[in-house]
Amino acid sequence: LLAEMLVVVATTQQPTTAPVDVGTLGQELLLPWQQNRTASQHLMDELNNCTSTQAEAILTRANTRNGQNIRYYIQHEKTYQANRMFYNTLPRTSPLPQTPYRRCSVVGNGAVLLGRRCGAEIDKADFVFRSNLPPLTGNFTRDTGRKANWTTANPISQLNWRFNLLSNKPAQKEKFVRHVRQYSGLLWVSAFGVKAATTVAIRAQRVLREKKLSSLAVVYGNPRHFAAVRDFWAYNGLSMRLSTGIYLTTIAMTICDEVHLFGFWPFDVSHTGEKLLYHYYDKPDTKMNPNLDPAFLHNLPKEFLKLVELHRRGVLKIHLETCQ
Ligand code: CDP
Repeated sequence: LLAEMLVVVATTQQPTTAPVDVGTLGQELLLPWQQNRTASQHLMDELNNCTSTQAEAILTRANTRNGQNIRYYIQHEKTYQANRMFYNTLPRTSPLPQTPYRRCSVVGNGAVLLGRRCGAEIDKADFVFRSNLPPLTGNFTRDTGRKANWTTANPISQLNWRFNLLSNKPAQKEKFVRHVRQYSGLLWVSAFGVKAATTVAIRAQRVLREKKLSSLAVVYGNPRHFAAVRDFWAYNGLSMRLSTGIYLTTIAMTICDEVHLFGFWPFDVSHTGEKLLYHYYDKPDTKMNPNLDPAFLHNLPKEFLKLVELHRRGVLKIHLETCQ
């Protein structure tokens, strides 16, 4: 059976990546785990030195100047001028706390979440990170939980294509607001990766203000912080375009004492050999947009093995178990 579960994880970027035996890997992740507080603290200090997450992760009036040219991190030949109107929409200071949260959950969107009934375990955290406006209601709640304190929204695939916010149509705005009511706290948008992201990110912020959804605030990712995180991982053996999941995990390791990952499993079979869809909310006929295909954009298996190293060192816990 284990031999059948051998998945070759080669991607377009890393054609020679070694195969991963997902059966053995899964068994290992199910063994009892204990946090190594010294190792967690050590990495937290190192990340703080390299990335200054608390002050830098989100664009604020404290880390951006009125009139500053903000440089895009993917299209780095381009800049955006933070004029007064834009500047005034930034939070005055960082919304992240000076003292770390005790426990955080970072929830990936892998279909491995389904049927494991970990919703309550996820929501037990003081702070929950989620990616890409995932559904948390109805039948999903038992497996996903409901709490969402920092949710990311991809400006192109979500804000632009899915919710068509650039159209400025009342029905589209209404649909967007109805959907995002399930989250609270921060709606984090990577507004300064590529030029096309900025207008729609600003539009999302306006829509929430216009609809007076005060429980959720659109904040913009700071491209300098993203670059610092990218450099940290490049130095530590991951020279690639980082996924949202590893970016959020890095932030969590910097601002949380204990980090718990759920829904991270970038393989198409589970450790027990069941076939898996890519996202927990995908339908069997869901087609991946080729421009957003993770195998093309990222190397998730390689990232995942890095996270497994941190699990082994007791820095964070990858959850794969059935919870109740
Ligand atoms: O923004 P991105 O396309 O990277 O992410 P997503 O597909 O919305 O999923 C959020 C994160 O969950 C990813 O960035 C991965 O880190 C993680 N994930 C995973 O580990 N295994 C999967 N099968 C799907 C997602």
